[in-house]
Amino acid sequence: MTPKSLDDLQLFINKAIESTNYGFNPENLYDPIHYTMSMGGKRIRPLLTLICCQLYGKSIDKAIPAAMALEIFHNSTLLHDDIMDNSMVRRNLPTVFKKWSTNIAILSGDAMIMLAYKQLNQLEEKIKSSVFETFNKATLEVCEGQQYDLDYEDDFQVRIEDYIKMIRLKTSVLLAASAKIGAIIGEACKEEQDLLYSFGENLGIAFQLQDDYLDTFGDSAVFGKKIGGDILAGKKTFLLLKALGLSKGEYNAQLIGIINDTNTKPEVKVEQVKEIYKNLKVDSITIEYINRYFDKAKESLAKLKLKGLDTTLLTEYSEKLSGRKY
Ligand code: IPE
Ligand code: IPE
Ligand code: MG
Ligand code: MG
Ligand code: MG
Repeated sequence: MTPKSLDDLQLFINKAIESTNYGFNPENLYDPIHYTMSMGGKRIRPLLTLICCQLYGKSIDKAIPAAMALEIFHNSTLLHDDIMDNSMVRRNLPTVFKKWSTNIAILSGDAMIMLAYKQLNQLEEKIKSSVFETFNKATLEVCEGQQYDLDYEDDFQVRIEDYIKMIRLKTSVLLAASAKIGAIIGEACKEEQDLLYSFGENLGIAFQLQDDYLDTFGDSAVFGKKIGGDILAGKKTFLLLKALGLSKGEYNAQLIGIINDTNTKPEVKVEQVKEIYKNLKVDSITIEYINRYFDKAKESLAKLKLKGLDTTLLTEYSEKLSGRKY
């Protein structure tokens, strides 16, 4: 079997997403699901699953149900996350709770979790329990991370290490599980499954740091989300924690004041915080941190290469992600 290129794998997953039957009635339950699943997105998680399965020379058809489950679950978290973060725009379109209602976004998001499990149930018996175990662990951890994210909104004592723990849970474990599940389906040995998990884990931390960076310094038309959303929601992002840590009192009171201020216009608040970040060089420090985690991810790939695996596609994909603007 000739291995597929990144573009081919992307097309393969796009086709699977388009041809899946998510359900039809009641329309107010299923329309938001179709809307979300067809509005694009990078589809990183299913792609990681396919790449890692292909790494072991196995047919990627076997990995499609798991790849679908991961993408559907990811999208369910977005429906709920946008309510939690009061986000109006995603992928340059209105979020489900804005376009329909909060109740609809909750219920459609719930239904998507069930649809994800329906996909997993189609997997071959011999790998099912191992995939379920990995999937269940990651999805529960995502909820834990999301709760820390909410808890930290009112907490100015959060440390960078708490933040890393939080983003590992809310974001990176799902990327890690996506890679590991591909390896399980490819029938990789335990050691290599763990190396791919660790690759996904560091890639995921870099990815969430980038997401925080782009939320403040990105271009909204490209990023597809409203710039400054994290600042307005009081999120303890890497940028804010670094700024609070670096300014040693100089800007601390000012930053906390701006964030807690309910009278100033949102656009003005965002500009004020951005200015402080720039003065403290938080933008370039964040980029350094991002690169550090991409490098850590590459260390796992180097170990896999030493074991004789062709990690070219994973390297290529990490590099593609490291330059992302959306
Ligand atoms: C958004 O994930 C939520 C985070 C974990 C940062 P993605 O950036 O993968 O979203 P889409 O699916 O590509 O839109
Ligand atoms: C979201 O983190 C993580 C999950 C959805 C689990 P964010 O809240 O930063 O993601 P975006 O920026 O809304 O996509
Ligand atoms: Mg969030
Ligand atoms: Mg959000
Ligand atoms: Mg974000």
